[in-house]
Amino acid sequence: MLSMQDHDIIVNTNRGTPMGELFRRFWLPVALSDELPGPDSVPLRVRVMGEDLIAFRDTDGKVGLVDAYCPHRGAPMFFGRNEENGLRCVYHGWKFDANGECVDLPNAPEGETFKNKIHITSYPCEDRGDLIWAYMGPAEKKPAFPDFEWTKLPRSHRYVTKFIEQCNYLQAMEGDYDPSHARFLHSTMDQARRPVRLTAHPARAATTPRVKWRRTSPTRAQSALDA
Ligand code: FES
Repeated sequence: MLSMQDHDIIVNTNRGTPMGELFRRFWLPVALSDELPGPDSVPLRVRVMGEDLIAFRDTDGKVGLVDAYCPHRGAPMFFGRNEENGLRCVYHGWKFDANGECVDLPNAPEGETFKNKIHITSYPCEDRGDLIWAYMGPAEKKPAFPDFEWTKLPRSHRYVTKFIEQCNYLQAMEGDYDPSHARFLHSTMDQARRPVRLTAHPARAATTPRVKWRRTSPTRAQSALDA
């Protein structure tokens, strides 16, 4: 059992925490491409590692990921107008492009060039493999985008989906690495409603220390395993 102190160290991913800084050194999937279906489509609320952000696809199809709140007076950028290559805050009209640069500031008594000093927090994005990926770490540490082969295949050759899990990342990963739950929790029970007992696969158990498990009753899953 972890102490509360160790628990907080390993599960907290907010900016400035050990795990938060580690994860921010990687490109991370933050949304499905389909959630931003086309140029100037409705912006998307995204929460990543404790940061509230807004994703939007601009007129040219480029994806931006910016702070959820305007740097002027804190208005929610979700309600911004996504138009002509930028997201315009509905409160006073400050407009930001996908790189977080202010490209229009219609009410600045300081003059036209004042907008050059204004930025909104933004993170670089890539739209690959039907996913929106973001890098949220230090710019000087940004790694090359991971060249996963599956991201280059035709769309018909992959399946991308998204789950919302109300837990911390470590709990989700523990579930993923727990193979024994799958045949109970995720199995179809329409073929055999009788109780299921697990035994080690004798052939494989004899040759490898990694014990594989299978059902003792014949099911579609077992047939696939034996094929
Ligand atoms: S609060 Fe956004 S422009 Fe003023």
